Amino acid sequence: MGMINAPTTDLTLLDNPPLIDPFGRAISYVRVSVTDRCDFRCTYCMSEEMRFLPKRDLLTLEELDRLCTAFVTRGTRKLRITGGEPLVRRDILHLFERLSRHLVSGRLDELTLTTNGSQLANFAGPLAATGVQRINVSLDTLDPEKFRAITRRGDLAQVLAGIRAARQAGLSVKINCVALKGFNDSEFEELIAWAHGDGMEITFIEVMPLGEDRADQADQYLSLEDVRRQLSATLTLEPISHRTGGPARYMRVKETGGRIGFITPLSHNFCESCNRVRVTCTGTLFMCLGQNDAADLRTPLRLSEDDRALMLALDEAIARKPKGHDFLADRLVSKPRVGRPMSQTGG
Ligand code: 5AD
Ligand code: SF4
Repeated sequence: MGMINAPTTDLTLLDNPPLIDPFGRAISYVRVSVTDRCDFRCTYCMSEEMRFLPKRDLLTLEELDRLCTAFVTRGTRKLRITGGEPLVRRDILHLFERLSRHLVSGRLDELTLTTNGSQLANFAGPLAATGVQRINVSLDTLDPEKFRAITRRGDLAQVLAGIRAARQAGLSVKINCVALKGFNDSEFEELIAWAHGDGMEITFIEVMPLGEDRADQADQYLSLEDVRRQLSATLTLEPISHRTGGPARYMRVKETGGRIGFITPLSHNFCESCNRVRVTCTGTLFMCLGQNDAADLRTPLRLSEDDRALMLALDEAIARKPKGHDFLADRLVSKPRVGRPMSQTGG
């Protein structure tokens, strides 16, 4: 196991009831960003001269472990580690090694991550060994030059090698593809054939109004309703009821037998079944991706070594989880209401 010492507190269920928000939604899924850094600079995510947070602002690996463990104690069944790019955080494997004890104990159903795949060739085996079974890999194009252009510095071959390593390590891989008008809309069929041909699921994501105001995002916005219509010309899409409590809707492609997902935060409201919250790499808890209200968890984490203050902060925060988001209200017009980039909140 890793080098981090386990927290000494062993809190009972009685003291620590499941986190349930005012609308009766149990918080069972937490996404935790472990770094705002990334080795890519995807145009819809970061600026070319992205400035990153100073190290002291980040939660340490110990603090991340305590935080995740607190959520697990309060009913979280699924943890997703995100970034930035989580695998560029130094010693990140130690966190996975520590957290795997919750898989062993049966309190956690799933430990997973979202990655750009650049480091996967090295990490796939060790991640699988910690109990990770499924990962999401972001990939918007299979064209090496377009890949370089959208990521500003990524190497497609390296990512494809990473995905191969993940498959060889026995990990299920889901491809996340941001649908961008005039960029990859001619490739969707090819991406589906490639993913399904290798037993991978693929999910299309509408570009979201996050981060700085970038004219690009409005220009590149492509409704997944249009994507679905486009795909229906060559593929038979059958609706399936599979849901994960998240924003994705799924369809079966008859020709490939594989599954595709559509994440449409702008054109559909999915808040009623929301089971999740997000924590940034600085320990800020966002109760809703589309709202600015947040709770500071770093202060209670650093206040003392026991988790009482942290537990109180969790109660207070979840009591403020809003019923729904505001994306619909202002769409992609004018300035986005949510000013933080995906690399801070975690994808
Ligand atoms: N809109 C939609 N998806 C985004 N991602 C990052 N920024 C945006 C955005 N503005 C995606 C990444 C990755 C996931 C973590 O989030 O491409 O698939
Ligand atoms: Fe990095 Fe993902 Fe943002 Fe691209 S979208 S810059 S891979 S964090």
